[in-house]
Amino acid sequence: MKSYEVKILGTGMYAPKKILTNIDLESIVETNAQWIYERTGIQERHICSTEGGEYPSDMAMYATLDALKVANLVPNDIDLILFASVTPDVKLPNSATILQVKLGITNNCACLDIAAACSGFVYGFNMASAMIKTGMIKKALIIGSEMLSREVNWKDRNTCILFGDGCGVAIIGRAEETSESKVYASILSADGTGGEFFDQPVGGSVTPITIEHIEAGTHFMQMKGKEMFKVATRTLAENAQKVIAEAGLTLEDIDWVIPHQANIRIIETTAKLIGIEMDKMIINIHKYGNTSAATVPIAFHEAVTDGRIKRGDIILFDAFGAGLTAGATLLKY
Ligand SMILES: CC(C)(COP(=O)(O)OP(=O)(O)OC[C@H]1O[C@@H](n2cnc3c(N)ncnc32)[C@H](O)[C@@H]1OP(=O)(O)O)[C@@H](O)C(=O)NCCC(=O)NCCS
Repeated sequence: MKSYEVKILGTGMYAPKKILTNIDLESIVETNAQWIYERTGIQERHICSTEGGEYPSDMAMYATLDALKVANLVPNDIDLILFASVTPDVKLPNSATILQVKLGITNNCACLDIAAACSGFVYGFNMASAMIKTGMIKKALIIGSEMLSREVNWKDRNTCILFGDGCGVAIIGRAEETSESKVYASILSADGTGGEFFDQPVGGSVTPITIEHIEAGTHFMQMKGKEMFKVATRTLAENAQKVIAEAGLTLEDIDWVIPHQANIRIIETTAKLIGIEMDKMIINIHKYGNTSAATVPIAFHEAVTDGRIKRGDIILFDAFGAGLTAGATLLKY
């Protein structure tokens, strides 16, 4: 069976207009700006408007329109929309179909949401790549778009300081015969036994939200930060090493790593465990905080746009999130 190589055709991002700094947080919870910066690397984060116009599907529309321009494509060229988010606009219908309508796509392309938390974009990227390789589809739009500000408990200083809102997207397709672009190796993994380290047990079918939950604030996301930290660094490093080995490449071959942006200390520890220099790690956590599924595509888009990442560079996506899910991709851009 003929197989095809995969190429990233265009990227885009959207960051909400409102910026919330660490200093601003000092008047929301008992914290201080310096503590947040030193323990997490975060200086500020963007927060979606609650008045509309910046919901996850809106952000995805703006980011996709930019990515389509870069790729020189029109919306109806998309065969598949994979929308990764833990904060979708609504429970039903899925966000991918809402976006399909907002983009004016009329080709009945497949639309699927991915619930893999912070690994969602990399899950989508690897699944869509596999479908392109087999020839099942020609072009996929992969999105990570989050409005976490709706789901964090603004009274819990252990979590609310960490997260931000935003969206990043990539359009991928078959590489031309003459192109060097390719996906060398990819991995998707999960360890459900760590589910309780980062969860939101209230609000599903088992425990619908009641007035008591709202009064106690127990319907928000909750996290055991120290446990997440340990598993995150180990898993990010293991998956990175696995894809590099599978591709038959060495650390010296890697030009850039796009790690999930959860905490600068997680990125530093992961780099050390992999054995790769920090100056190969793309970092933007200071500006956005942890935007879950959006961190990898936003960081990738910024580095492509400012010229750090060039065609022909070898790139590693490395993500980890609630679930506990994880995914890595090694590719030539
Ligand atoms: C949450 C996190 C920043 C906490 O950092 P830490 O170095 O582990 O800090 P600790 O939990 O040891 O807390 C140290 C102290 O600071 C306090 N503290 C916690 N949050 C604080 C805040 N926002 N401001 C000031 N102090 C705070 C704690 O209460 C604790 O005080 P205590 O020793 O009196 O109990 C860190 O564990 C982390 O980033 N974990 C990963 C989280 C993550 O991103 N997960 C998602 C991955 S997808």
